[in-house]
Amino acid sequence: MAIEIIGTGRAVPPKRVSNDELAAKIDTSDEWIRSHTGIGYRHIADESTACSDLGLEAAKNALAMTAGYCGDDPEERNRAASEAALTIDMIILATVSPDFYGVPSTACIVQDKLGAKKAGAMDLSAACTGFIYGLETAAGLLTVSSRRKRALVIGAETISKMINWEDRGTCVLFGDGAGAAVLEKTGAENRGILQTLLFADGSGNESLLMRRGGTRYPFKKGEVIDTSICVEMNGQEVYNFAVGAIFSTIKMLAENGNINIDDVAMIVPHQANARIINAARRRLHIPAEKFYLNIEEYANTSSASIPIALDELNRSGQIKKGDLIMTVGFGGGLTYGGNLIIW
Ligand code: ACO
Repeated sequence: MAIEIIGTGRAVPPKRVSNDELAAKIDTSDEWIRSHTGIGYRHIADESTACSDLGLEAAKNALAMTAGYCGDDPEERNRAASEAALTIDMIILATVSPDFYGVPSTACIVQDKLGAKKAGAMDLSAACTGFIYGLETAAGLLTVSSRRKRALVIGAETISKMINWEDRGTCVLFGDGAGAAVLEKTGAENRGILQTLLFADGSGNESLLMRRGGTRYPFKKGEVIDTSICVEMNGQEVYNFAVGAIFSTIKMLAENGNINIDDVAMIVPHQANARIINAARRRLHIPAEKFYLNIEEYANTSSASIPIALDELNRSGQIKKGDLIMTVGFGGGLTYGGNLIIW
């Protein structure tokens, strides 16, 4: 038995904001952002677009691919996606920027709009490692029940709505987007998700957090809120944690899987900061071309970054059936982990 990825999709908002556009509003520069992060642009959702809207589009693209449609005609795409949605048994949506806090889950909103009538649906909160956690959760749910055959895993974020756009230390880093993958339980041998590592270091829970609005620091009646609900981050702490997390996850995936890094076609890291990825890569003595980087275009889209990258690689033919792929992620919680996949 194998759990294989049989379709991928992505969606990013059309509005593309350059570093220079940010520099016109806050005290930063294209040179600083590029040299410290590798980011050139980010895509930002408009007022009316929420997390589920991007998740839905990415999911439709992934579902349509499973039905053999990868073209640009929206009607054809929707028809193919609607048919394929009926085959889905479980939807898992990873996000830190849900449509609503607590209830309902964003996954349920996507399930309804897809018409995925027989699918269970739930959200998953593991920040930027969410898609990696989602793949393993879906694989487990498909494995334990003979009734479940297909799952849809989505990473979707409209994180721009949770950013303090006056804080140059965070606002330049993030962007919006969504990516999705359809998983199928098949009879193949030595294919699909071979191994997943999931870790957490909760002692770092304050390194990256949204302080207000939950039950620890709820908003109170009559209180005047003078900033938007926003992400707070200790950049240095996250940086140091992230370099170690990438290093140890890749090393462990290779050792446990008894594989040589030369045999890996592509390593797909969470796109938080090109400097973080390059620092870990140098410690591992892995050549730059093994790491897929698209941070220049999208910035950090949290749980969406890995599935967006996988879809770009898949649709462009840069990864092919039978290729060995590694994912590695890290983020708030703090969480980290990775997957080893034969595509
Ligand atoms: N533009 C210009 N200057 C800036 C900016 C900016 N956007 N942001 C900070 N600076 C300034 C600081 O004020 C500071 O100035 P000072 O020396 O006068 O005090 C100087 O630049 C250096 O600041 P540092 O914070 O030390 O800069 P650093 O080199 O550490 O880079 C960064 C900051 C990019 C945030 C880095 O720490 C980092 O990438 N950390 C990890 C962040 C991350 O990946 N977060 C997300 C991961 S988890 C997830 O994905 C949800």
